[in-house]
Amino acid sequence: LLFVNAGMVQFVPYFLGQQTPPFRRAVSVQKCIRTPDIDEVGKTSRHGTFFQMNGNFSFGDYFKEGAIPFAWDLATKPLDRGGFGLDPERIWVTVYLDDDEAAEIWRRTGVPVERIVRRGKKDNFWSMGIPGPAGPCSELYYDRGPEYGREGGPAVDEDRYLEFWNLVFMQYDIADVRGKEEFRILGELPAKNIDTGMGLERMAAILQGVDNLYEIDEVRPILDRAAELTGRRYGARSSHVASESHPDDVRLRVVADHVRTSLMLIGDGVIPSNEGRGYVLRRIMRRAIRAIRLLGWQDRALPELLPVARDCMAPSYPELAEEFDRISSYAYAEEDAFLSTLRAGTTILDTAIAETRRAGRAAISGEKAFQLHDTYGFPIDLTLEIAAEQGLQVDEEGFRRLMADQRARAKADAQARKTGHLDLSAYR
Ligand code: SER
Repeated sequence: LLFVNAGMVQFVPYFLGQQTPPFRRAVSVQKCIRTPDIDEVGKTSRHGTFFQMNGNFSFGDYFKEGAIPFAWDLATKPLDRGGFGLDPERIWVTVYLDDDEAAEIWRRTGVPVERIVRRGKKDNFWSMGIPGPAGPCSELYYDRGPEYGREGGPAVDEDRYLEFWNLVFMQYDIADVRGKEEFRILGELPAKNIDTGMGLERMAAILQGVDNLYEIDEVRPILDRAAELTGRRYGARSSHVASESHPDDVRLRVVADHVRTSLMLIGDGVIPSNEGRGYVLRRIMRRAIRAIRLLGWQDRALPELLPVARDCMAPSYPELAEEFDRISSYAYAEEDAFLSTLRAGTTILDTAIAETRRAGRAAISGEKAFQLHDTYGFPIDLTLEIAAEQGLQVDEEGFRRLMADQRARAKADAQARKTGHLDLSAYR
């Protein structure tokens, strides 16, 4: 794993029985990074690249009969008694297809059968996406009401019915993982365990009565600052449904999410680079900078936004304030480098556009787009966009072919480093 992407990551050796935990029950608030859904950020109400996961864990201690009533109790107990005070009538739960036991415990705990939904592996069997501990899960959803989407439960609309808590019944060791639904169960784990994850940001959105993760108190100030800089009015469309948002709103959310993630990543020691974790950070930062440029802000943006993110997060993570000089110097240098890339690329692209026109062609060649990407680090989406503004297309197929060739060469190189034998066919 490049990043901790769930609250349970550091507990894997306990689940597998490789180490004895010093305690049999635990609770945590874990910083997490998840980027597979990065393109969804801002377009839905519930995808963030950085989030904090609250969880309770049992290492061979309580199992379903404990975890389910615990979750119900905390979710529904009034705020003044230490719970989240959610209306029990609005909570829906899901269980894995054949998990009669969990369904029965939910029924006994007080959830009517019509709000207990059975779902398959894709939704209700949790794994890390790699070999290791896994198990069927049961999720809690909160119905935010008709203004958020269609009636019918979480299987119909996961924006209206917001998942806020996942209870995983960790009981299997899996291998040969090829996707959410394709893996092999090696056998039972030495003990039956519990791993739960409640997205802090999702719960905050519910409790603060806001539409999405980007409007909670830890994120909204960054969004507001970006709106102020660019002179855009956030939320001009009145719909609560994220998918109906104005493109400006989506971009402002991307900026807010990604700036906060960059702060947290650099804070934890990641440095922008061309590989591994550093590359993920670089992409996130570039996406933020691109988004704010598309909103009309051409100058350095991070010196305006990063301190706002720090002020949002430092109450929980004081080290962000103490180390802000180090964090911000990496961030600002990265932005400056990217802005020069954009300037250099724009000049080359302008020339390419002029040449394409002179030659009477409708599309910029795939080679040119590839060269911009490969030599100047100029992102293809930007090439496409600038070309479109000039009424031109880009030979995307040609571009993708060259990208694929390059990947094949990189793979051959990596293989050669391992085996000492270079497959020259990748170079033809
Ligand atoms: N591991 C589960 C998840 O990430 C529950 O914590 O959803």
